[in-house]
Amino acid sequence: KNRDDLAGKKVLITAGPTREAFDPVRYLTNRSSGRMGYALAENAAERGAEVMLVSGPVAIEAPPKADLYPVESAAEMYDRVMELKERADIIIMCAAVADYAPANCAVHKMKKQESMTVELVKTKDILAELGREKKAFLAGFAAETQNLEQYAKDKLVRKNLDMIIANDVSAPEIGFDSSYNAVSIYKKNGETLHLPKDTKRKLAEKILTEIRNSI
Ligand code: C5P
Repeated sequence: KNRDDLAGKKVLITAGPTREAFDPVRYLTNRSSGRMGYALAENAAERGAEVMLVSGPVAIEAPPKADLYPVESAAEMYDRVMELKERADIIIMCAAVADYAPANCAVHKMKKQESMTVELVKTKDILAELGREKKAFLAGFAAETQNLEQYAKDKLVRKNLDMIIANDVSAPEIGFDSSYNAVSIYKKNGETLHLPKDTKRKLAEKILTEIRNSI
């Protein structure tokens, strides 16, 4: 029913986790299967959009109709998104980007010690950067374990977004690694929409319909 309603639109989607290395065999990462972002990419492509999918390392197949840009670290994701953003009409930041990266990465594998300290520094916030010079419709995700509505609404304002999609990652059987999710959508114009538990595919369709109706 939504056939081709995104024809001619260029949609940039980020998905998956990032990896922040501190030696050649070790890294820090976030929990993310990439399923939500890949479902968005698949649905957008089915609806006729040209999809650019910037993805951290995941174990699932990319939708064949999307252009896949694989990245590893938050810094690589930042560079790729900055390069592709000019071409996008819609940007959806679904990736679980690491908020911190090791200050240094050792050239050789670090030998085992009783304890060690890794200094972490904040990564560049890609979404906030996009919000500063907003040209495309901009949607972000918020994953929280508490105060979800308040944190999501704060982010919507602070990062200058058009829409934020919030999911409670403490809820059992949905979210991480699951094919299911449940989300709340908060829009810049104050509208709120609660989408109850459903497959990530179905939710992706509903989220893109909301975006379609907001541009
Ligand atoms: O503030 P917080 O990191 O919780 O915001 C989450 C949103 O910001 C997500 O859409 C995520 O993709 C994005 N993000 C980002 N760059 C970062 C951290 C988060 O684009 N370094």
